[in-house]
Amino acid sequence: MNVYDGQRIASMLRGRGYIQTDDYTDADIIILNTCAVRAKATDKVFSALGRMRTEKKPDAIMGIVGCVARESGADAFRRVPELNFVLGPQSYHKLPEILDNPDTRLFNIDLGGLEKFDAMPQMETSPLIAYIPIQEGCNHCCTYCIVPYTRGREISRPIDSVIHDVVHAANTGAREICFLGQNVNGYKYTAPDGLSYRLSDLIRAAAQQDAIKRIRFTSSYPTEMTDDLIEMFRTEQKLLPFLNLPIQSGSLNVLTKMNRPYSLNLYIDIVDKLKSARPDIQISSDFIVGFPGETDDDFEQTLDIVRRVKYINSFSFKYSPRPHTAAALMPNQIPEKIKSERLYKLDALLNEIQREFNESCVNKTLSCLYEGPDKTGKYAIYRTPYMQPCVVKIAPQIAPQIAHIKITDANKASLRGDIQN
Ligand code: 5AD
Ligand code: SF4
Repeated sequence: MNVYDGQRIASMLRGRGYIQTDDYTDADIIILNTCAVRAKATDKVFSALGRMRTEKKPDAIMGIVGCVARESGADAFRRVPELNFVLGPQSYHKLPEILDNPDTRLFNIDLGGLEKFDAMPQMETSPLIAYIPIQEGCNHCCTYCIVPYTRGREISRPIDSVIHDVVHAANTGAREICFLGQNVNGYKYTAPDGLSYRLSDLIRAAAQQDAIKRIRFTSSYPTEMTDDLIEMFRTEQKLLPFLNLPIQSGSLNVLTKMNRPYSLNLYIDIVDKLKSARPDIQISSDFIVGFPGETDDDFEQTLDIVRRVKYINSFSFKYSPRPHTAAALMPNQIPEKIKSERLYKLDALLNEIQREFNESCVNKTLSCLYEGPDKTGKYAIYRTPYMQPCVVKIAPQIAPQIAHIKITDANKASLRGDIQN
């Protein structure tokens, strides 16, 4: 979501004649697009601001947008008096106001809902992967999560606006559509004529665009994987055989305290249904270790579910107490040392499974999407249908957008392969 927000902001600024620089000491405007989901992310913002306030050009304007702006509110101005603007995740479309009046201060952390989508100019060209937000906010209220506070209650965009964005992206360069939302599979829009639409309708509409070769969506809530959506994995070949379906913990005890009221059997049932719809599907998850009250036994149950589902490409985090959340006030907070030990064990297991899966891809030919040059600039990086990075010995300048790649080599982190004719 932040990548998308950043692309929209950059595109708006380009439209006003700005050019991008990698060197903030040379910038006329510095915008930190921020994430507040863990304390570390918020801390990084303020330490970066601490550096930038002294090193930036004296008349450069500087500000923060996104969830840290909403989390810290006007206190951000007190902590960093050089800030010119503090704009929440739903008010960054107000940025032009400060560009027009750089001598003022701009503060807006309102939850304006969908206003930003229409207020920002369309991006002139689409990247190969077009991120298209279809809903904002979240109604789930997991007890650890700051998102319902920073991004507000769930609200779905009108289907016409979403399809307009899909067509525009397809016509201006996109080959993959990634539908976005904090609770993307909760998408529900009722049109003025009374007809209701769900994510499966959007997937069907995107698949009709010839230019679009791959479709995916993130992030999903387990109990909102409705049958119509699961069926899409059977019928819609453009939908990638890869799904991020965060379970967070394998312990019912912890899930209850997290206010994620689903049983492991229900979760496994959903995974089984997905596998019967698309036998080659792979699942990834987000995990939190060291949630308040998590016992060794609870943690073992998380390892058990990892072995059972054989997750790939997952994200794991130490629990981080956040303001405006219930879990931060819960008893039995887990010491940092135990959190670190558990994270280490979980990561070791996830890595082992990831390596096995990557190795199982060797000798297969996969249809992949070009991503960009590797670090040396000599070779091309592609993304497989499972979003594994794959390095191909071909000059990035002549790399086709979509290529059939025979995988020749694999390790824990990436694949290597050759383009097939
Ligand atoms: N501490 C650690 N991880 C968190 N996440 C959300 N809130 C927290 C928190 N307080 C993780 C969840 C979520 C991902 C985006 O970030 O795993 O799925
Ligand atoms: Fe946060 Fe995701 Fe839970 Fe919503 S479903 S409250 S975004 S962790």
